[in-house]
Amino acid sequence: MRDNAPRLGTSATAESITSKHTPHAFSNSHDSRVGDERIVVLGGVPLRGEVEVSGSKNSSLPILAASLLASKGQCILHNVPHIADVGTMCEMLQALGASVQREGHTVIIDAENLQSHSAPTELVRKMRASFYVAAPLLARLHRAEVPLPGGCVLGPRPVNYHIDAFQKMGAVTTVERGAMNAVAEHWHGASIYLEPKNSSVGATVNIMMAACLATGTTTIENAAREPEVVNLAEYLKKMGGKIRGAGTATITIQGVKELHGTEHTIYNDRIEAGTYLTAAGITGGDVTVHGLPPVHLSVYIDKLQEAGIEITHGDRWIRAATVQPLRATDVATAPFPGFATDLQAPFLTMMCLAEGRSAIEENVFDVRFNYAAELLRMGADITLTENTAIVRGVSKLSGAEVQATDLRAGAALVLAGLGAEGRTEVTKVEYIDRGYEHFVDKLRSLDGQVVRQTKSGNKK
Ligand code: UD1
Repeated sequence: MRDNAPRLGTSATAESITSKHTPHAFSNSHDSRVGDERIVVLGGVPLRGEVEVSGSKNSSLPILAASLLASKGQCILHNVPHIADVGTMCEMLQALGASVQREGHTVIIDAENLQSHSAPTELVRKMRASFYVAAPLLARLHRAEVPLPGGCVLGPRPVNYHIDAFQKMGAVTTVERGAMNAVAEHWHGASIYLEPKNSSVGATVNIMMAACLATGTTTIENAAREPEVVNLAEYLKKMGGKIRGAGTATITIQGVKELHGTEHTIYNDRIEAGTYLTAAGITGGDVTVHGLPPVHLSVYIDKLQEAGIEITHGDRWIRAATVQPLRATDVATAPFPGFATDLQAPFLTMMCLAEGRSAIEENVFDVRFNYAAELLRMGADITLTENTAIVRGVSKLSGAEVQATDLRAGAALVLAGLGAEGRTEVTKVEYIDRGYEHFVDKLRSLDGQVVRQTKSGNKK
């Protein structure tokens, strides 16, 4: 760190923070602290250094759920991150009758005794991806009762594509008292067309899982092409599934009689990697992320370069170095390989400090600019029109108390604090805990002046 750089008055080390904040096993230990904790940032220090990217949240969740498909043998999963959403999914698997053990970043699941077809409401309400258990329950038990996840801060987020597909595969479904009840006496393959505009990730993975144990062949047209879909397909194949085309718009699944346990490694998190690369841009720093192929972020890398950031990369690392003032850059979110909606908030935050006017268009979710109001409180100039945010770059942001409005927006506000003058406090950090492993520690390892505190000011 530069000698004249601002410092937060703390003697807490990154390690001491880690030990108190690593969620233990899958107990979601942060829950008792909900609402009480905040991340305090002192801005003005360029982030510099190297960071190992953790296992992907969006790969872990469907892969954990898919483990319920194994009627014999253990599933051993490596590189599973310690984040709250993984804890929620592990609790869900246990509630349905699977045994789940966790050692470090490895999770061992035995689902031979899958018993319950009924997913607990409180777990589904905590996390939308809990709906992923619907497919394994239908495929193995031919019955599923799963509460509908309902809307969330990103908009209505229905699951109609999932339910339509289950019906085409032979399920009779009803929705009563907020839950999908489905019974499938004859579970069979089907031809399924997803909306090309959305190419739903959730529907694609639910259908892939469902089809593995269906009689006959299933094809999914306009399937999502995200790396997380490919990671799941690799896993299902190791379990004995027959899948072709994952990573393309057409996926074909030939049903088999049963799937078995196997060993598999979760991909690293491309959204987390993108977040740290953006932090380099926002703070005028130089950050290298390790652990993923640049192709997982290719459009994002193009946009960082357009914004004036120098990018270099190898097979499994990417470096972002700030060599000139940031330039205004327009982006439009789209399904993979397009610009990821989950990186919209960090990129928009960076554009707040770029020279000129940027248009940030959100095409995947209905409501994804709630956090803009928080950036305005820090001095940003943002105007919202329907699905587009017009950002006029300002010469500086100023620290303020701001509130995370969702997972990625929460991380973006911490980045805003790192690039701002003075002290920023980000509340509702439980959103960030859902998807970023050791976020504060990793930022501190890059020289970020960041601590986690209780409301009363006690360091955690
Ligand atoms: C996943 C990711 C999330 C990411 C999103 C888009 C996980 C756990 N979450 O969410 O981080 O932001 O992909 O890349 O992997 N839709 C419907 N009906 C449906 C399903 C989806 O209308 O039945 C709509 C959604 O409301 C949304 C769009 O399709 O507008 C895309 O949603 P989808 O790809 O399904 O997102 P998720 O899988 O929920």
